[in-house]
This record gives sequence, C-alpha cells and structure tokens, in this order.
Amino acid sequence: MNTFRRRLPGVVYGGDYNPEQWPREVWQEDVRLMREAGVRLVSLGVFSWAMLEPADGEFDFSWLDEIMDLLWANGIHVNLATPNAAPPPWLATDFPETLSVDRRGVRHGIGSRGHFCPSSPVYRDRSRRIAAKLAERYGKHPGLAMWHIGNEYHSDCFCDLCDDGFRTWLRQRYGTLEELNHRWGTAFWSQRYSDWAQVHLPRPVRGWVNPSRELDFSRFTSDLLLDLVVQERDLLHGITPDVPATTNFFQCRLTDSHRWAQELDVVAFDCYPDPGKPDAMAVAAFQYDLMRSLRGGQPWMLMEQAAGAVSQWKTNQVKQPGRMRLGSYQAVAHGSDAVMFFQWRASRQGQEKFHSAMLPHGGEKTRTWQEVKALGNELRTVDEVATARTRAQVAIVWDWQNWWAVEGCAHPDNTFDYRDTVARHYRALWHSQVAVDVVTLDDDLSPYRVLVVPNQYLMTRHHSAAARKFVEDGGRLVVSYFSGIVDEDDRIVEGGYPGALREIVGAHVQEFSPLPAEATVPVQAAAGENALDGFFATASVWQDDLDTETARPLAVYRKGHLTGKAAVTEHRLGRGRAVYVGTRLDDDALEALVRHVLDCADVRPVHAAPRGVEVTERQTRTSAYLFLLNHRQDKATITLDRSGTDLISGRRLQAGETLVLDAADVAVVRSPLAPPQDADRPSSDS
Ligand code: GAL
Repeated sequence: MNTFRRRLPGVVYGGDYNPEQWPREVWQEDVRLMREAGVRLVSLGVFSWAMLEPADGEFDFSWLDEIMDLLWANGIHVNLATPNAAPPPWLATDFPETLSVDRRGVRHGIGSRGHFCPSSPVYRDRSRRIAAKLAERYGKHPGLAMWHIGNEYHSDCFCDLCDDGFRTWLRQRYGTLEELNHRWGTAFWSQRYSDWAQVHLPRPVRGWVNPSRELDFSRFTSDLLLDLVVQERDLLHGITPDVPATTNFFQCRLTDSHRWAQELDVVAFDCYPDPGKPDAMAVAAFQYDLMRSLRGGQPWMLMEQAAGAVSQWKTNQVKQPGRMRLGSYQAVAHGSDAVMFFQWRASRQGQEKFHSAMLPHGGEKTRTWQEVKALGNELRTVDEVATARTRAQVAIVWDWQNWWAVEGCAHPDNTFDYRDTVARHYRALWHSQVAVDVVTLDDDLSPYRVLVVPNQYLMTRHHSAAARKFVEDGGRLVVSYFSGIVDEDDRIVEGGYPGALREIVGAHVQEFSPLPAEATVPVQAAAGENALDGFFATASVWQDDLDTETARPLAVYRKGHLTGKAAVTEHRLGRGRAVYVGTRLDDDALEALVRHVLDCADVRPVHAAPRGVEVTERQTRTSAYLFLLNHRQDKATITLDRSGTDLISGRRLQAGETLVLDAADVAVVRSPLAPPQDADRPSSDS
C-alpha cells in the first residue's frame, strides 16, 4: 500500500481498459479523453491472455509495450493484470483437463471466462508462466503502479484432480479418517468411511448431501482459489518486490474475503448496486464497510463500478443523473481511495457490449461521459481525504463460514437468505446514521460498544467466549434467532438451543416454530417497566418458543400459539446486556429496537441529518472529513455541528449554519482536529 501511495497519491480515478478490442487510432483518442477526465490508473490486460500468448509458449507483447508506453507518456499509471481469468482456446484444446467441471460432472466449454480448473497443474504452470513474463518485462516500467491478480475468483470445480485435492485437504485438516468420521457425523445414514478412497467432493447424491461435507467443500474451494492468488502474489513479489498486488473481490460466496484480504497488499472491490432496488445504496454501504474492515480499517479501492446500467440482470436500469457521482463519493466516504469503473470504453462486440462504460458508444456528447469527465476532475478537490481512517463504535458480524452453514440443507426454515438478513440488520444501522465496522467473532471486539449479530447459526467455542466477554465487559449485543446452534462442524451445540449463546442471552429456545409464508404475528412491548414501552412489531418467517431464564422479556407475541411468550429479551451479564430477537421483526421495528440499543449504549449518529442522507466521517491526524450524501429524491437541509470547508464547493461553513443539499448532491466538510491526546486516534497510513 505504501509504495502504491507513493506512486498514486490522492483519490485514484480510472477503470478497466481493453485496448486490444480497438485499432491503434482509437488508442490516441482514448488517452486524450482519459486526460480530459482525469484518469490516473487503468486496469490493463485483465482478459488479454489469448492476445499475449496466441499459442503455447509463443508470446506477443508488442501491442502491450506500445500501450504501456502510450499511457505512461500521458501520465497514466497501469494496474497490470495477470490474465488468468480467461484462459485462451489453445489451452483448452491442447490440455482439456484445464477446463473446469460442474457439479454434475459436465466439463465446461470455452467461449466465456472463468472456465479453468484451479487444481490443474498445466493451468497453474501456464498462468504462472505468463505472470512471470509480464513481471519480468514490465516490472521496471515507470507506469506500472500495481498488480491485478486474475479477476473476481469464483471458479469451483468437481473434476477428479479437485477430488484428489479435496482428500489431501481433508487429511491435512483432520489427520485421520476416524477424526473425519467424527467431524462429519458419518454415523448418520451409514456414511462411515473405512478408506480415504471412499471420500469425495459433494457431487450430486440421491437426496441431501451431508452438510458437514458440503461445508468443508466450501472451505476447500476458498482455500484452493486463494492458493492460486498466493502463488502468483509470491511470484510477482519475487520479481517486483515494490509493486503492490491485489485481486478484485465481489461479495462472492466461494471466497472467504476475511482470510483472503490478509494475503493482499490492498483490498479491491467491484460493486454494482442495482438502481432499480430501493435499498441498493444501503447494500453498497454495507459492502464498503466490509471492505474497509477486512484489513483493519486500511483504505481500499473501488476497482469496478458501472457508469450507468449493467447488462447482466433481467432489466438493467440506468443510474439517474447525479447518482453515479453520488455512488462514487459514497465509496470514498466509506474508506475507498479509488473510484474506478468497468470499463473505460464501451465494447462494440461480445457479451458485454451493452454494459455501460465511462465512454459510451455515443461518445463525448453523452450525459454519462459528461458526468464521468466532471467527476474525474472534481475528485481532485478531495484528494487529501486519501489515507484517512474511520472510527466506529458499532460492529455487525458478517461471516463466510456462517454463510456456508446457515444456508445448508434441511433446516427448520429453508427459505433463509443470509445476505438479505445481514442487509436488513445493517439497514437499521445505516438509517441510524452511525459508523459501522463489519467483523467476525474472531476479530478484536474491544473497540465497539454495540455488536449486532444477525443469525449466526455457526458459532465456535471461541465465538461464544468472545460474545460473552464482549457483554461482560460492558458491550451491548443484539443477536437474532437461529444463532449459536451449531459448531464449526455443523454439529448441534448441546445443552438446549441456542447452545453457544444460552448463558449469554439468558434464555432457552424450546422449539423453533417457523411461520408459513405470508403469515404474520403481532408483537408488542412486554408489560411492566420496559424501556421499549410502546414498541409494536409484525413478526414473520420464524418464531422461537422462548423461555426466559435469567433474561427478561422486552416484547411478547400477542396472537397464536405463543401468545404471551417472549419475542425479544434482554439479559444483563457483567457490565453489559444481550438483546435476543427470536423472530423476524418488520424493518421499522428492527430499526426501532436497534436505535434503542444504540441510545442505551450512548452511540450517537455521526451527524444529525434527515433520513436518506448518509453521513460518514474519515479522519487523519489533523483533520476530520464529514461526508454528507443526499440519497433522497428531494433537497435535504442539514444544520452543521461544526465549522469547516466544503472541499467540493470550496465554501466556508460555520457551525450552526444550514447546508442545503440538492437531491443526489454531496458535501465533504473538512474541519481541523485538535492534536491527538490519546494514543488510539486513527492515523494516516501513508
Ligand atoms: C465484473 C467483472 C467485469 C465485468 C463487470 C460487468 O464482475 O469483473 O469484468 O464483467 O462485472 O458488470
């Protein structure tokens, strides 16, 4: 990150550039327009393998030499990709075993991308070979700023090589077959293995697959793909020790980004919020907070976003005027030091020819180009924000291991969607306008006053101990139903539900009682002295038949077979409290509950603002940067609690002054910070 920062200070602007799709004369226009738009970094060669190596061992770098020089002559840096995401046709023809195989045993064909077997020695060898050639050839090129390893890793494979790899991985994890039998619970349905040769990837079976086996397959795939990245990173670092390396994440089920991020020099993320979805910007905010949190708050890079509409959904809505700009600042507001796009120039052929680009088919007259150009130039006003950190007192748990497990088979409710569930909980925090980190229960929880744990079905002993310590030390925990149910092997934590949490929440779930689709049950504040007085909610999807033990009910069901029983409880433990939510509350009620907990913990909004205005803050040692982002369809009025300067407009603002933000407008208010008194103030990492 440090080297990268030296080469590219400020907020980086740019996108994927695919010059191989265009004749030379277009390249001249490209660099001219890139300069006009303030482009400083392009991701180059992401899908160029076939052009760089037209046949096995025959290389042609002439066009890349030319474009690297042309870009650098125009002051544009390169984020050079290792092109392994789209292997060339010759690799598949010469070595068919390099193609991935789907779960049903069908080998993928060529003509798309991501069609590689991650275990194939030939694929590994050839992708390393081209990566090495690139590093040797361009390692000293002055325009090279960083390495972009592969692209959005997401290729799982069920071939025989991967099957062997799975067994090896399991042997390393469990040592003996006895242990594997124990961990997978193979006493059930006569699954006991008596020889390693009987153990396989979860290819299709007659009924349900053993969930522990499926869970381990997810872990194995994440590790296998990560191994590809680590191998290339080591190779690149070996040749170019000063050039940082990353790969671009998306919120992909197959790759445990918590683990992956530790192997990268900087986190990079691709984000495509759907303009047709009302909560798209809250989902983006969650993903951005996750990216910032993956490496302990280190600034990250928005590596790809769409300038307008994408082309991969059923209906691809455009970004309304100003909304691309707003979304770009949103990423910066959540810790990104880059605003980049897929892609620079709209393709005229191929699968993504209708995907928007910085430079649309219509060229310079288009609204999108005008907005892209204006933004690239305007971002210079906020350059000084780069490297600034965010401090949060609230954290929400997002855990890949739990994602894999909680969506496993044969659960009491099989409509469960982890992403949606976490998004609902996060949305309550987003509307409360507080700063949020996204963590796992393995992280250091001591910086937080409030911890929200949505449906953490899988909890290890360590998770349980961490949650307990968090509460005992004075934290406020909010945990929702179907949490603390199984351990890392997907084995029920014994002692009655929620086994891993029972003593922490002070309540016992006698039975899970999922509700039929569309059914709802009214919930209201429990009688007696109750801080939630007046609380009313509509419950759906799920009810716990909950016995309060040492907890007290905060809200109870008003109808149905659980009438009078607790829906929400609170338990004092040590210096803190644990709130347990035994049902799916409607959005408003969940938000009211979360706000109540934030109030009790004395966590305040970053800044007072009307609903729909997103507020974040980044800090360096000397300045605080307040981001005000108006996602509403109308003007918003904010009374400032501080004096400062809006970096974008250059306006000087006084505390108490009213700032009016048009729909989709943004302000970034810089205020001086007193020199730090305490050691833990966030610091710049430049
Ligand atoms: C990303 C991918 C890009 C492009 C983009 C289009 O997931 O990395 O190559 O396909 O989607 O939305």
